[in-house]
Amino acid sequence: MSHPLRLVVLVSGSGTNLQAVLDAASSGAPFEVVAVGADRDGTGGVDRAAAAGVPTFVCKVADFDSRADWDLALARLVGDHTPDVVVSAGFMKVLGAAVLEAVPVLNTHPALLPSFPGTHGVRDALRHGVRVTGCTCHWVDAGVDTGPIVDQRAVRVEPGDTVETLHERIKVQERTMLVEVLSALATDRSWR
Ligand code: GAR
Repeated sequence: MSHPLRLVVLVSGSGTNLQAVLDAASSGAPFEVVAVGADRDGTGGVDRAAAAGVPTFVCKVADFDSRADWDLALARLVGDHTPDVVVSAGFMKVLGAAVLEAVPVLNTHPALLPSFPGTHGVRDALRHGVRVTGCTCHWVDAGVDTGPIVDQRAVRVEPGDTVETLHERIKVQERTMLVEVLSALATDRSWR
C-alpha cells in the first residue's frame, strides 16, 4: 500500500478548506498535511495548522526583491516538506514556475471554471446574474485558473443572495469536494 499522500496546503485567509482537510486526515483519510504555508501574517489558516500541530511557514512577496525571488523561496520552503501535492486552498497569489515545475499544484476556486476565474469568482458570477454557480478543483498551470479541471460542484443562486451568503454555501460544497478529490488522488496515483 502507498504512503498517505503528503500535502503542503497554501492559504491566505480563514482556512476552512484547510480545516476540512485536516479533519479528514485525522479521521483516517489517505492523506496527511505535512505543512501549511501563507503569503501573509495573521491568517486563520496558519492558526488552524498550529492548533493541529502542523508545521507552518510564511513567505511574503514584500520580503523579496522580485516576484521570481519570492517564487524560488516559496519553492524551497514547500520542497523542504517533500509533498506529493501542493493544495492552494484560498491562496490569493499566482504561483510561478519554480513551484509549478517542482510539484503538482491543485487549486480550489469558488466558481464553475472556465467561467469567472480570478480573485472575485463569487462576486463576478453574482453580478453576471447566473442562476447556478459553484466550485472547481483543478490542476494549476501557468495561467490564472486555466488548468485541467478535476471536479466541480454546482450551487444555485438564491433570491437575495449576497457575495457573502453565496460564498458560504459554495464553501460548504467546496470543502466536501476538496476532501473527496484528495482521497481519490491518494487512492489512484495514475495522475503522477
Ligand atoms: C475559497 O472559497 C477558495 O475557493 C477561495 O478562497 C476561499 C478560501 O476560503 N479562493 C479563491 O477565490 C482563489 N481565487 P477558506 O480560507 O475558508 O478556505
